[in-house]
Amino acid sequence: MVSFTKLFTAGLMATSALAAPKRSTSKRGAAYNDISTVPAMTSSGNVAWAYNWAMSLSGSMPTGVDFVPMLWGARDFGGWVAAIETTLSSGSEYILGFNEPDMASQANMAASDAASYYQNYITPYAGQAKLISPAVSSSTNDGQGLSWMNSFLSACSSCQLTGLAVHWYGNNIDEFKTFVQQAIDTASTYSLSEVWITEFALAADVGGIVDQATTNSFVTDAMAYLDNEAAVTRYSYFMSADNYLLSNGALNSVGETYCN
Ligand code: BGC
Repeated sequence: MVSFTKLFTAGLMATSALAAPKRSTSKRGAAYNDISTVPAMTSSGNVAWAYNWAMSLSGSMPTGVDFVPMLWGARDFGGWVAAIETTLSSGSEYILGFNEPDMASQANMAASDAASYYQNYITPYAGQAKLISPAVSSSTNDGQGLSWMNSFLSACSSCQLTGLAVHWYGNNIDEFKTFVQQAIDTASTYSLSEVWITEFALAADVGGIVDQATTNSFVTDAMAYLDNEAAVTRYSYFMSADNYLLSNGALNSVGETYCN
């Protein structure tokens, strides 16, 4: 007679073979311009999603990595409907809103305009994807950063948002945690269940990592904090490119810390 334990084990094995998870549950993402950099980032299986500030992935994504499309800003409105419908039919689960609309050099929008654009272009897909707000900078000037975000969220109560996105460039882990906590508090005020940090880095590293050891220590501390913070559901360090998380196409020491 076959024992219960054997049957139970066989059942478990069959179940896990059938229900092999398609995606890792890692919060970690790859922010890329060049998709050929992504396999080095995702081969460990710990980097589960990727985005490129654009509505299409531009190439082919490693299996199991969730591509997240973004409507960068007004420059992309013309191609949006065709592109997003293709991207969603390929299985994307989220849509990201405009890139730093609080900055004149980026998507540059008044919060009230951004709310109407969001409702026109992104909210119609609420039934097919979860919707993330525009990503604001970490500027503390009035009308920028989380101040802009507050105005946007007040104006966008019908936008059907699931979460909000922020960027951070600054000097140390304490500043980072303070800012992320403020973003979490803002999300909570508007009953949003996800906080995404879609760009973050030491300000010194905005043009490339200056000192691997300093950055490695920052990234180690930042990931320990973010992985432990339930309100933060996704984050992507800036960025998947040579001189950042890669050197000569391979992970450097900071890349190893981030991806492994
Ligand atoms: C820009 C994107 C660009 C990215 C990485 C962002 O600030 O808005 O268009 O792809 O930086 O270079």
